Amino acid sequence: MSQTVCLLPGDGIGPEVTGAARRVIDAAGADLQWIELDAGAGALERTGHLLPPATLDAIARHCVALKGPLTTPIGTGFASVNVQLRKTFDLYAAVRPVRSMPGIRTRFENVEIVVIRENTEGLYSGIEHEIVPGVVESLKIATRKGCERIARFAFNYAKERGRKKVTVFHKANIMKMSDGLFIECARRVHEEMGEGIEYQELIIDNGCMQLVQNPGQFDVLLLENLYGDVISDLCAGLVGGLGVVPGANFGDSCAIFEAVHGSAPTIAGQNIANPLAVIMSGVMMLRHLGLREPARRIKDAYNAVLTDGRAEELTRDIGGSAGTTEFAEAIIRRL
Ligand code: NAI
Repeated sequence: MSQTVCLLPGDGIGPEVTGAARRVIDAAGADLQWIELDAGAGALERTGHLLPPATLDAIARHCVALKGPLTTPIGTGFASVNVQLRKTFDLYAAVRPVRSMPGIRTRFENVEIVVIRENTEGLYSGIEHEIVPGVVESLKIATRKGCERIARFAFNYAKERGRKKVTVFHKANIMKMSDGLFIECARRVHEEMGEGIEYQELIIDNGCMQLVQNPGQFDVLLLENLYGDVISDLCAGLVGGLGVVPGANFGDSCAIFEAVHGSAPTIAGQNIANPLAVIMSGVMMLRHLGLREPARRIKDAYNAVLTDGRAEELTRDIGGSAGTTEFAEAIIRRL
């Protein structure tokens, strides 16, 4: 029986990379009904809403979406649509698997990290104000409920996938209360359900240095919101860049799958963006839907394209000369 999923093409390179992902997923034989929905800066121009009610209704009804990146203006302008979406559907856990990829040469060959990021609290709560002219305040929110549920999610994830170690990066030496609560909850959850899983805490500055020197020592990283955002991009840099790192945002009832990268406005509309991160996010979505066979076929197909390493089949960010569509077609040929 066919399953319905929402598709949010988004802004910038979003329509190109989600379009490519949809073609690959359909070609792999996944029996999906797609509902295309508007969101983001483009939607604001077209409909007067960053998140049109029809988009929110459809996600609430179908509970699964593949999403392109959404532009957020810097410094001024509207609040982040991504943050709004994550809050609306309480998508508290972002999962970003970061792996060394076949055929993509980087400094390291043994990266196999999963970044698990708390997605609804911290400094991204969006509570900011000017106290007096020239003095502004941004509040970092941490709740016991939020810290505990992301820690539980991380240890559950580690258990289900046979992962051996969970590392928390924090700054509880400075932010003794907020990051202090985060690690207190992580310790407690480890004691409660982390049998057989090593638990480690690192102050984030040291953690960053160790990540770029020896990423092979890390397995699951458990991070609060801002650290998770920054470290995801750092980890992407270890394995070939933002074009090859997928992601998923999970709540208790909904899941939205999206690449780690943004809308990359400088390369939008030129057929040069790498669609692989969204294709890989699509594979995560298929697994979530229980569609393991098309997920496996797509993974085998893109691994084959990467392993073959033909410049005319790979996008420029990973050493090739192909366009977005040519890369997607190369994957479809290997299915
Ligand atoms: P970005 O991720 O869009 O781009 C960073 C760099 O990576 C740029 O050089 C870009 O060309 C390159 N890049 C990104 N994706 C690529 C791909 N698929 N193929 C090849 N190269 C790629 O980050 P930036 O420039 O900081 O943000 C641009 C906009 O995206 C902002 O409005 C930001 O708020 C938004 N954004 C949205 C996200 C989302 O919707 N989940 C996540 C991150 C940023």
